[in-house]
Amino acid sequence: MPSELETTLTDAVIARLSPDADPRFRQIMQSLIRHLHGFVREVELTEEEWFEAIKFLTATGQKCDDKRQEFILMSDVLGVSMLVDAINHRSSEGTTETTVLGPFFVHGAPEIENGGDMAAGWDGEPTYVSGRVLSAAGKPLAGALLDLWQSNSEGSYDVQLADTGGRQLRAKLRTDAEGRFRLRTILPTSYPVPTDGPMGLVLERMGRHPMRPAHLHFMVSAPGYETVVTHLFVKGDPYLESDVVFGVKDSLIVDFKRNESQAEAQKLGLKAPFYRASYDFVLRPAGKAKQKAAHAASDAA
Ligand SMILES: [Fe+2]
Repeated sequence: MPSELETTLTDAVIARLSPDADPRFRQIMQSLIRHLHGFVREVELTEEEWFEAIKFLTATGQKCDDKRQEFILMSDVLGVSMLVDAINHRSSEGTTETTVLGPFFVHGAPEIENGGDMAAGWDGEPTYVSGRVLSAAGKPLAGALLDLWQSNSEGSYDVQLADTGGRQLRAKLRTDAEGRFRLRTILPTSYPVPTDGPMGLVLERMGRHPMRPAHLHFMVSAPGYETVVTHLFVKGDPYLESDVVFGVKDSLIVDFKRNESQAEAQKLGLKAPFYRASYDFVLRPAGKAKQKAAHAASDAA
């Protein structure tokens, strides 16, 4: 039989919210309190489990620094990141679909020329990626900015490796007058999300693998258009159906075609065999509120 406190506490906590609080903040806090209390009631959380949860959240925070974001990983692994993505991008209407930012984005990628190599000095399968950035009406967007990042051929990002000498396997480049971009790199590989922190333990206890299918990260922006945060996934990867962060969308799976021709490789500044992929990014016009939010977010970051 629930005690009186057990049944009345949720309303009592909500009643303490000031009527002067920001309306959106009030709405979020009311819902958070209701759902959090509902969750505790549903599972009848023990005191030991409550303390485990406190320790888990503490460890998650302690694992974070300027290169490691365990909270984003938690959000990704629990499907929250993709739920937020789905709510905020309900209809793509022919524009490029979005997916998770992931925990490995960092500002300050080096700028490279169109056609440049974002993987200079790294071993891997030579790869050429090209395409265009277009408006939804099909207009090529000259000077659009592509910010790219990827793992090495063993599945690690630069921030996971000791002393890589600054930003590696990251690049920024701009489209030419016809909205075209091209770059050389190495073929991305599938990789495990970091499992040496609290989320690794949770994944293991849930009986889930930690793998992400091979992908290249892109953030594509142009003045007057919504910034697209997305990936291009390598077709045929064994983890496309079971991405640990639920990030795969069919429209983002791209054929990285193997090419054995030495002559064609040379034309592109590569060695055969190499892989070639092409993709056109289609941006939607930014609403004013969204543009402001995007600027605020990038300033904050
Ligand atoms: Fe990634």
